[in-house]
Amino acid sequence: MAADVDLEKQAAASAAACLVEGGMTVGLGTGSTVAYLLPAIAARGLDIRCVATSHATESDARRLGLDVRPFEGIDRLDLAIDGADQVTPGNWLIKGGGGAHTREKVVAAAAERFVVIVSSDKPVERLSPPVPLELMGFGADSILRSLPQAKLRPSTPRTPDGGLIADWYGEFDDPAALSALLEATPGVVGHGLFSPELVSEVFIGRKDGVEHRR
Ligand code: A5P
Repeated sequence: MAADVDLEKQAAASAAACLVEGGMTVGLGTGSTVAYLLPAIAARGLDIRCVATSHATESDARRLGLDVRPFEGIDRLDLAIDGADQVTPGNWLIKGGGGAHTREKVVAAAAERFVVIVSSDKPVERLSPPVPLELMGFGADSILRSLPQAKLRPSTPRTPDGGLIADWYGEFDDPAALSALLEATPGVVGHGLFSPELVSEVFIGRKDGVEHRR
C-alpha cells in the first residue's frame, strides 16, 4: 500500500495535470512527485509537446508516449509543473534535492505559469539549509574556497551540463540576500532558491484533499 506521503504527491500531481490543455508546450520537472505527474498527463491523451528538466524525466515521459522535444527553438512555455523540497507561506522554494535545479529554474522562468506540486511535509515556515548549488567544474576547488559553507555532494554525477552538485549549509534568514550572494560568486552556475516571482501557484497534497495556494 502506498504511504500517505505518496498518496499526497499523487493527489497534488493529478490536480496539476488537469491544468494541461491541448496545444500547450509544457515544462516537466524532476523527482518523485513529478513521477506521478507524468502518467497523469499522459492519461489525458492531449496533443501537447513537452520539454524535460532531466534525462530521467525525459525517458520516463517518452516511455509514456509524451512528445518530448529538446529545449531549443522554443522561447516560451505555456505551463511548467515541478516538485520542491521546501515551500514557505510566501512561496519561496528550495529545489534541487535531485540536482536538477539549474535546468528546473530555466524551465520555470520560461513558463507563463509555473505550478509547484508537493506533499504536506514540504511546507515550512522559513527555509533552512541545505541549499543545492551547481558549480562549474573549471576551478571547482577555488570556487569552493570562496564558499566556505558549501560542500560537494558525495557520489553525485555531473549534471547534463557538466556541472558539479554541491550544497550550501550556512544558516540564513534572508533568501533574497543569499540568492544575491550566490549569484555574485563566479563559478556558481545555479542554486536551488526559487523566488516567489517565479511561482504562480502551489498544490499541496494533504490527507483530506489538495490545498490550492494561488
Ligand atoms: C530535483 O532536482 C528537485 O528540485 C525536485 O524537484 C525536488 O527535490 C522535489 O523532489 P521530490 O518530488 O522527489 O520530493
